[in-house]
Amino acid sequence: MDKTKFLDLGRQPIANGFLTEDQFENEFFYDLSVGFDRETALVTHMEYVKPSLMFNDEYSYRGSMSNTMKLHFATFSKYVKQFLPKKHKVLEIGSNDGVFLVNWNSDRCFAVEPCGNFAKETNQLGYKTYCGFWGGDLSQQILSDVGTMDLVFAANCMCHIPDLDNTFSAVEKILSDDGFFIFEDPSLIEMINVNSYDQIYDEHPHIFSVTALNTILQRNGLSIVRVDNTSVHGGSNRIWVKKSHFAKADDSVARNLEIEKIFRIGEEDTLHRFAERVRQSRKDLGDLLCRCKELGKRVISYGATSKSTTIFNYCKIGKDLIEYITDTTPEKQGKYSPGVHIPIISPEDGFNPSVDFAFLGAWNFSREIKEKEKDFKGKFITHVPIVRVL
Ligand code: TMP
Repeated sequence: MDKTKFLDLGRQPIANGFLTEDQFENEFFYDLSVGFDRETALVTHMEYVKPSLMFNDEYSYRGSMSNTMKLHFATFSKYVKQFLPKKHKVLEIGSNDGVFLVNWNSDRCFAVEPCGNFAKETNQLGYKTYCGFWGGDLSQQILSDVGTMDLVFAANCMCHIPDLDNTFSAVEKILSDDGFFIFEDPSLIEMINVNSYDQIYDEHPHIFSVTALNTILQRNGLSIVRVDNTSVHGGSNRIWVKKSHFAKADDSVARNLEIEKIFRIGEEDTLHRFAERVRQSRKDLGDLLCRCKELGKRVISYGATSKSTTIFNYCKIGKDLIEYITDTTPEKQGKYSPGVHIPIISPEDGFNPSVDFAFLGAWNFSREIKEKEKDFKGKFITHVPIVRVL
């Protein structure tokens, strides 16, 4: 790849590496810089973190912690069945805790998951889960074991994998001639639109545009046939793909490519302007939190997200500005946030009337959170699209 750097997010820890006090000393850090590949227009990290440092048996992110995501996958699973043969076979790549799988018949639905804790869980649920990293070898093994797939699905997983050519060619090999490969990930145009630079962390080595995906998929024998713009995770694209020989694109593909062209998504200047807004956002958030502190306000963070790891470490926000973080995930409670070591506690223990301000770490679920917390007398703070009190 011929990459040019446009954004420096500084020294960062493993975004989902929530840790205990005795692990502070040996915490891993790396330099997070983002670049632009001149050949494909892919927005991608300058250096990739080794996958096994992020995805292992201690992985703590659970997709099923959000009702929004449970509903999202249930609705999509019901909808997509009309496009599949009656006795369809389905493979999910990156199945996490089974939040998508549970909508499918376990006899004909298979999964790949590199995090052993979750692979064990979904195997126990009855879904044959291959514990490993997706690629040519695993694709070949599953093909020999159970044959081709009518649907290969991946949510917030394709953008996790550094080598996209190996990833997509491995999908092409296992897909039936009439099969669909459907994947969804945060959208570059939306990230730039709402200045959500916290979409960038170790697990997201790429932030996809339809433009870049179009080129990379095509050189691996695959073509985009449909693009859905969805609101999940702060604005994502669901990309429908078929083997190129059997592909017929609908209007949504040309429409999305056209919008990205108008937006100048493939141009370096667009990314430099975005980087400037990111630096301004860091200054504004720091100023706002410092003012809260000067006024003696109690400030916490809501949701110990991987996204907030980027923010807190880039903006140098620690326990002095945010007292603690509340999160519903049992695996995160009692631990500390990566890098800046803010304690994490349950909402039952921490989200109470003494809180004046809560930074929305999980801003992508703000609708669900505001609904759940409608009796909250304090105020939420967000940084998207600009730093402000809600
Ligand atoms: P994500 O933004 O990476 O999906 O992570 C969301 C985190 O926020 C996850 O750890 C669960 C947590 N969370 C809460 O603590 N309360 C909530 O109401 C919701 C929706 C999420």
